[in-house]
Amino acid sequence: MNLTALPAIQLNHIAETYGTPCYVYDHAALVSAFQAFDTALQGRSHLVCFAVKANPSLAILNTFARLGAGFDIVSGGELARVIAAGGDASKVVFSGVGKTADEMRQALNYGIKCFNVESASELSRLNQIAGEMGKIAPISLRVNPDVDAKTHPYISTGLKGNKFGVAHEDALRIYQLAATMPNLKITGIDCHIGSQLTETRPFADALDRVLALVDALSDAGITLEHLDLGGGLGICYDNETPPPVADYIAALLQKLQGRKQMILLEPGRALVGNAGVLLTRVEYLKAGVEKNFAIVDAAMNDLMRPALYDAYHAIEPVNPRTSPATVYEVVGPVCETGDFLGHERELSLEEGDLLAIMSAGAYGMSMSSNYNTRPRVAEVMVRDGVATLVREREQIADLFKLERVLEA
Ligand code: LLP
Repeated sequence: MNLTALPAIQLNHIAETYGTPCYVYDHAALVSAFQAFDTALQGRSHLVCFAVKANPSLAILNTFARLGAGFDIVSGGELARVIAAGGDASKVVFSGVGKTADEMRQALNYGIKCFNVESASELSRLNQIAGEMGKIAPISLRVNPDVDAKTHPYISTGLKGNKFGVAHEDALRIYQLAATMPNLKITGIDCHIGSQLTETRPFADALDRVLALVDALSDAGITLEHLDLGGGLGICYDNETPPPVADYIAALLQKLQGRKQMILLEPGRALVGNAGVLLTRVEYLKAGVEKNFAIVDAAMNDLMRPALYDAYHAIEPVNPRTSPATVYEVVGPVCETGDFLGHERELSLEEGDLLAIMSAGAYGMSMSSNYNTRPRVAEVMVRDGVATLVREREQIADLFKLERVLEA
């Protein structure tokens, strides 16, 4: 998102009204990101399932639900959020390597669209639980296509060495095992090779591998209703050049010609990443011996990506100054050297200035923590020029209200 999408006057007003740090989401940017996917898939039976982990805000889930989205969840908690936000359980796919028995029961009760199963053991557990409940569980197997997503190793998931999915060479056998289980119904196949991909090629290669399996399954008498191609499309944080959504989808659709299955996608970052900023204020400017520090009120607990992945987020002054710029380390108040939001940023700053940490809509608030007993920040959504507080800032007392001291 560039700052012109949300006028500075509005960001100043939000910071004054709700305080900083504060995440701000642009409703129009969410809608247009969703529509880019939906439009590119027009003419094909499809479902765009927002990956809830990228940003589980009820206001965001509700925005997508109203546009007809499905949801990709990875926990019972995320399922509860989707339902609370008005999402449709029959459009939910459940991913993740460690689904618990309770989570399976919850999802079966709601009647989700599909369990994206990641191992033979998970198949057996799901078959047993569905049987106990007198239900049939719809399943897809997550296939690991062994394709290099060429992204950060922590967010690359499609290689043989990863914990995700079943190996390509084992998939047929495990599908045949699933076919023998009376309480399962095979409905699809899925894959997800990684996140923040900036090229189309790995997606296309993964799809080739998946389609080869679809044909092998068909030869074995196993037909599928849907193909779930996962998420992973990157966004521009700095100078990356991910393919436009339409081009990425066109490349997939080209390979899908003549295939009748419904197409599912699980985008997270591409739907929300550039629809959000993190507003933060400069607390102190400090000239160090080797470096100058801009100490801001947001920290690694509010936006973990720089500390965890060395990720780059642009940092823009909301009210730019004309005075000469200085090179700053933009850091938070947390007691760790890894607590930085940006290295070597040329900025013209004074204490009290408001900064926008850009492209913070995905994996920002969702990965935040209370480290250093810092309350999680407020979230605001702007629609048609109107700012609404969609999550209150946490109160300090709430942070330890579940705790007890030992009695004497
Ligand atoms: N589907 C599955 C099964 C996933 O594991 C993920 C993300 C997605 C979909 C959505 O991927 P996306 O479209 O957002 O790339 N915390 C990291 C990203 C972790 C992604 C984990 N899985 C970050 O901040 O970069």
